Amino acid sequence: MMKNKLVMATNNENKLREAREILAPLGIEILSQHDAGADCQPEENGSTFAENAAIKAKTVYESVKLPVFADDSGLCVDALGGRPGVHSARYAPKGQECRKLLDEMRDIPEERRTAHFHCTVVYTDGERTITADGTLNGKIAFEERGENGFGYDPVFLCGEKTLAEMTADEKNKLSHRGSALRVLCDLLKGNDDADK
Ligand code: IMP
Repeated sequence: MMKNKLVMATNNENKLREAREILAPLGIEILSQHDAGADCQPEENGSTFAENAAIKAKTVYESVKLPVFADDSGLCVDALGGRPGVHSARYAPKGQECRKLLDEMRDIPEERRTAHFHCTVVYTDGERTITADGTLNGKIAFEERGENGFGYDPVFLCGEKTLAEMTADEKNKLSHRGSALRVLCDLLKGNDDADK
């Protein structure tokens, strides 16, 4: 059932790197949508992570006709009523998202800085569609810390460390993307074994 290529409906190098690490047990090549030849820019106009992930997966599948999965993810901050949520990628210009979030949360005390990352993954191969979710709970720090990761990682505290202070392995074991993709990985491996 599984071909030897799987396309991730993204050109985000950070998401791609993490997905390749997490899905390594599948033993298949994971291509970006660009490398797979999909020249489309799916319009992420859904109101939920699941809607947006489905839009991306289906649009890219129509273009490449190979098994595709999409990740739609974001940061939901309780004191901001769940913002930036599905709009996390558009909250601030790239590289300025942490600074803007820290500014906006300047007066919010430690105990009210709870937040979570959410990730919904949608897979389609034209016959089946699989949806899997993952979340990671934490708190928004008062300053940026760490050099690793991307996006909001420098301000997202998990215990003592921010995600940007963790190694890739440490982050993948905990992360919203890790949880969602491990569910997908197990389902795809299960289906594959059943086909043998
Ligand atoms: P989208 O899924 O392409 O709409 O973008 C999700 C946005 O959420 C990213 O551009 C990041 O700003 C943020 N985000 C999602 N996952 C992570 C993560 O693991 N670390 C830090 N930021 C993330």
